[in-house]
Amino acid sequence: MSNSQDNPVYLQRQSKLALSLQNSGLDALALNPGPSLVYLTGLHFHLSERPVVVIFRPDKTPIIVLPELESAKVNHTEYPLRPFTYGEDPLTWENAFRQAADVSGLEGRKIGVETRQMRVLELKLLEAAVPTAQFVSAGESIAALRMHKDEAEISAMRKAVAIAQLAFQATLPSISPGVSEAELAAELTVQLLRNGSASQLAFSPIVASGPNSANPHAFPSDRRLQPGDLLILDWGANFAGYTSDLTRTLAIGEIDPELAEIAHIVEQANRAARQLAAPGISAGDVDRAARQVIEQAGYGKFFIHRTGHGLGLEGHEEPYIRSGNTFRLAPGMTFTIEPGIYLPERGGVRIEDNVVVTSTGAESLSDLPRQLISIA
Ligand code: CO
Repeated sequence: MSNSQDNPVYLQRQSKLALSLQNSGLDALALNPGPSLVYLTGLHFHLSERPVVVIFRPDKTPIIVLPELESAKVNHTEYPLRPFTYGEDPLTWENAFRQAADVSGLEGRKIGVETRQMRVLELKLLEAAVPTAQFVSAGESIAALRMHKDEAEISAMRKAVAIAQLAFQATLPSISPGVSEAELAAELTVQLLRNGSASQLAFSPIVASGPNSANPHAFPSDRRLQPGDLLILDWGANFAGYTSDLTRTLAIGEIDPELAEIAHIVEQANRAARQLAAPGISAGDVDRAARQVIEQAGYGKFFIHRTGHGLGLEGHEEPYIRSGNTFRLAPGMTFTIEPGIYLPERGGVRIEDNVVVTSTGAESLSDLPRQLISIA
């Protein structure tokens, strides 16, 4: 059933897209299935061997090329959409793409694509359909739209964070010396699903103990927790397509006082970045706020990654909270703040929260305690 009166959200996003394309000198946007297509149309398609492409042109009805067998999906969209279908013989694909391109008037146009999403499969078909068109990256125009989250998106993110926090609390009793990283990762995954996460997690939990915790992107191994270990858990839920991404660090038994000290420093760095984030502040300055705390404590060379990344329909998106990024924050932007200190061979600490920029500052969507959690 159509409910365009109740929910004009996709139409609104499509008109914002039209403006954004015009501002970046693009005549059209061609998207294949993925987060940006979901954002603009609400349409979910698997990336399969059968190509699906939607073409947006300012002031024209968007067009979709898709397999006949999936055509029912676009019968009742909340906005106008013109389908061009093809059958099971791949030889019919080219014809469907050519018809769609003709109707869109793409001859000689500059067409935006997502370079990290569009495959050679779809690009070749588009190029064959309009040999005179020029295909360029539209990453920035799309990011500019998706970065500004509306109320419904922020409440989905709030829920994704709440689910992740419940999953963490439910996993805590399983953490003790002798349990392996892989076993804990399994438990955390089960608890995410049990507490309401969609089954498609944005990423598999990171569980890294002892020396492994000094590697920010460690994969869970068979290593068993031992007294003296730092333990990093980095996990997130998916709610209605929106992602959360949290990290907390734990101490197993008695730990070296220096490891406790770096945990304290990282906690202060996390707080400094959260306190600085606000509309008009640059992403680079937020990074700087966290980095300064760690540098002043003498651990600058052990903070080996950026302070954070945008979060939304994807686990990593704009804005990137990295050194030197002059991009200015605005209300409705959501990102992680996750400073860390990693002492090679010994252990690491990372504390990650998810924040939303408000009209006056930044609100943390996550409120789990940030100090080192001691497991006896
Ligand atoms: Co993260």
